[in-house]
Amino acid sequence: MYKMAFISSYIALNAHPGQFVHIKVPYDNSLLLRRPISIHDVHPQTGRVEIAYRVVGKGTRILSRMNAGQIIDVLGPLGKGFTISREIKSAIVIGGGCGVAPLKFLVRCLKEGGGAVTALLGFRNREAVYELDEFERFSDQLFITTDDGSLGSKGLVTQALEKELRKHLPDVMFACGPVPMLKVVQRLAKEYSVPCQISLEERMGCGIGGCLVCSCAIRTSDGDFEYKRVCQDGPVFWSQEVLLDEAALEC
Ligand SMILES: Cc1cc2nc3c(=O)[nH]c(=O)nc-3n(C[C@H](O)[C@H](O)[C@H](O)COP(=O)(O)OP(=O)(O)OC[C@H]3O[C@@H](n4cnc5c(N)ncnc54)[C@H](O)[C@@H]3O)c2cc1C
Ligand code: FES
Repeated sequence: MYKMAFISSYIALNAHPGQFVHIKVPYDNSLLLRRPISIHDVHPQTGRVEIAYRVVGKGTRILSRMNAGQIIDVLGPLGKGFTISREIKSAIVIGGGCGVAPLKFLVRCLKEGGGAVTALLGFRNREAVYELDEFERFSDQLFITTDDGSLGSKGLVTQALEKELRKHLPDVMFACGPVPMLKVVQRLAKEYSVPCQISLEERMGCGIGGCLVCSCAIRTSDGDFEYKRVCQDGPVFWSQEVLLDEAALEC
């Protein structure tokens, strides 16, 4: 994981947890499409905007090699982030891998709004863990799970979630991570009747609602479904609305 900060007063003042920026990869004109990266945190007083990302391909590799002082072309803040309010007295925040990145901004805002926050973060191993001190600072309770048990409890973050739900039910849950994790969170939210918002990741083209590359299936009130755009209608949706299981679309 790499962390990068850039200065944009506009983004720092207007961003909301769960929103993302769309970054033009510099120095390689063959990479036409911008790369979507969640806003990790903002500092409105200084205009500092932070992102945290994993290097998975050419675009993120080029970003990881940029030096301080270079200029970056960024669109944002984009998308619809998490719905939060001062009414939230207790929240559980669940993150997996790269999906932990947007949750720091969320956890900080929930804490500043007076809510009690339990953060459950899952990683592959100890080396993959990042920003632990920041989550410790803003969470009332923090549980870490790793697949190999090298830090925190051994197992999946969703197992920790189920344990926590047996002890107490929060007003709301928020989750971001890989689809298999989101599917379990979605099922548990339904089983325990806790409202839950999940942040989706889809491949993106324009990032601003024009190309429909990022469509996802959303349940409608009449039991059917419609396609919505992750970049503009999301990336955050109420979990009961989202059809994560493609098999469900064939029904
Ligand atoms: C709304 C949103 C927020 C995101 N926030 C973050 C973040 O905070 N931190 C982070 O590390 N990543 C985040 N991602 C994923 C990130 O956009 C991709 O990893 C990045 O675009 C890859 O670019 P690349 O040129 O390095 O790789 P590419 O060469 O484009 O792709 C390399 C590999 O990554 C996969 N990949 C590319 N884009 C995505 C995607 N959108 N979702 C899943 N897999 C992808 C490809 O299938 C391929 O296997 C986010 C994606 C979305 C849609
Ligand atoms: S990426 Fe173009 S509509 Fe969402």
